[in-house]
Amino acid sequence: MPYPEIRPRRLRRSPAVRRLVEETRVAPAELVLPMFVKEGLTEPRPIAAMPGVMQHSRESLRKAAAEAVQAGIGGIMLFGVPTGKDETGSGGIDPDGILNVAIRDVVSEVGDGTVVMSDLCLDEFTSHGHCGLLAPDGSVDNDATLDAYAEMAVAQAEAGVHVVGPSGMMDGQVGVVRRALDAAGHAEVSILAYAVKYASGFYGPFREAVESSLEGDRRTYQQDPANLRESLREVELDVAEGADMVMVKPALPYLDVLAAVRAAVDVPVAAYQISGEYAMVEAAAANGWVDRERVILETLTSIRRAGAGIILSYWAVEAAHLLRQRY
Ligand code: PBG
Repeated sequence: MPYPEIRPRRLRRSPAVRRLVEETRVAPAELVLPMFVKEGLTEPRPIAAMPGVMQHSRESLRKAAAEAVQAGIGGIMLFGVPTGKDETGSGGIDPDGILNVAIRDVVSEVGDGTVVMSDLCLDEFTSHGHCGLLAPDGSVDNDATLDAYAEMAVAQAEAGVHVVGPSGMMDGQVGVVRRALDAAGHAEVSILAYAVKYASGFYGPFREAVESSLEGDRRTYQQDPANLRESLREVELDVAEGADMVMVKPALPYLDVLAAVRAAVDVPVAAYQISGEYAMVEAAAANGWVDRERVILETLTSIRRAGAGIILSYWAVEAAHLLRQRY
């Protein structure tokens, strides 16, 4: 009987040896928590499609941000939900708009205790729900939108944000935002470019989170899920335009893209585990079909293994606690 001489199972035989040879670890400091704040709320309001995630009031946002810092996570990504939306998304530019006041609140609450980031996009603020301004024919006008992003970036920087995250997939957005920030005296504000962003069905629950009224889809500006080389081109352009960090989004269905991006550039690479990825696991776990905590850590480890050094996840704080127990 030719028994094997080489036995990979030896290195799996006990928790101690498995821990010793573990190739990939997720650290709390690499996790970023996306948070929603809604104008006019006095109490946080649950988001049905994202069990456990809230639309915060200004007050509850401050408190939750402080708790996130306490948990040792690396950053917070803020999204604002205004009470009134209009054609041009003016609430995003207004210094008293909900996102900009929330940035001030959070920065004053947590100081330099964590990295405060903000979504730089119009879709939360427009009545039509698109990420940009509409041309008379109803198409999304790239260059007019760039002017709005420039103003929005400066408003967020004035509010004290550390990192802006342009996420609208307009051509040239990173360069325009960089120049606007520099011209306004905000050379210290970094850009986390949503460089690779697919037109994905997994954004579904986010629409509820920001009360988006989008009809139709974003396929004329977000990428076709079938394409990988196109992502490398997007990343190359964003780095050339001045992106300090680049992001791939969604995460789990695009691990091959993430690995290719990691290999292609030397700037930090982030991945966004988006609302639909979160909702899918929560729904299956609520039915008893998967072991919730195990699957949360498995997805984060996979995203890390594929090449993300920074992971945006709605589980960031909970995962930080789970990781502390584990290591
Ligand atoms: C754009 C933006 C979106 C998300 C983050 N930034 C929505 C979209 O592009 O359709 C989605 C995040 C998620 O689904 O968790 N402002």
